[in-house]
Amino acid sequence: MDAFSSVLNKIHVPKHFERDNDAMSDLNTLLDNNKAWAAKITQSNPTFFSELSKQQSPDFLWIGCSDSRVAAEQLVGLQPGEIFVHRNIANVVTPTDINCLSVVQFAVEALKVKHIIVCGHYGCGGVKASMESQEHGLIDHWLGHIKAVHQKYEQQISDLEDETQRLNRLCELNVLEQVRNICHTPVVQRAWRNNKELTVHGCIYGLENGILHDLNVPIHQMNQVDDIYQVRENGNPVY
Ligand code: CO
Repeated sequence: MDAFSSVLNKIHVPKHFERDNDAMSDLNTLLDNNKAWAAKITQSNPTFFSELSKQQSPDFLWIGCSDSRVAAEQLVGLQPGEIFVHRNIANVVTPTDINCLSVVQFAVEALKVKHIIVCGHYGCGGVKASMESQEHGLIDHWLGHIKAVHQKYEQQISDLEDETQRLNRLCELNVLEQVRNICHTPVVQRAWRNNKELTVHGCIYGLENGILHDLNVPIHQMNQVDDIYQVRENGNPVY
């Protein structure tokens, strides 16, 4: 018995925490998988976890969709410690989301990542829901950010004949807009002003073939950002 289990055994478990056998069986599968995973890594590299526990120094921040099929680390073949991850519905970056922005600040200023990757995916359920007029409840506030992207590119999207093409085009455009939104943050612009190496990329993942496509929209310096969004410590009025 490890120290953690011995502590747990001394805790009085309230009635509402009593075990549900079906739920425990599901969780036990994960715990068994975890033991096998940790043992496999330790077998090939006995100091992997002890070394990694001392620090993390990933070069990449990944901002992706929460969709269970778009598994950040696995699909780019990276190990624990190599990529810092934030996921939400439809990989949205907004200037009022303190969760996402805190992740960006920590990744850029503390971890000093060199790349931020916004990864969307074709057939995104969040993007699809944003194209509907049906009410979805609370999430409609969140989907409003994607509706704004849709409205901005309405002509380009409506010119496409097929519904799937329109959805997938909006998935791509949503990535481009979120790349821009990251580049509008004071955190990223401060890094550039201080000559830090930092590139923001947009990628999109194909659920049907497992392939990640670069949308080729790298932004790595202030002059790639529209004037109105450029923030300076002692800036002059734009006009
Ligand atoms: Co999605």
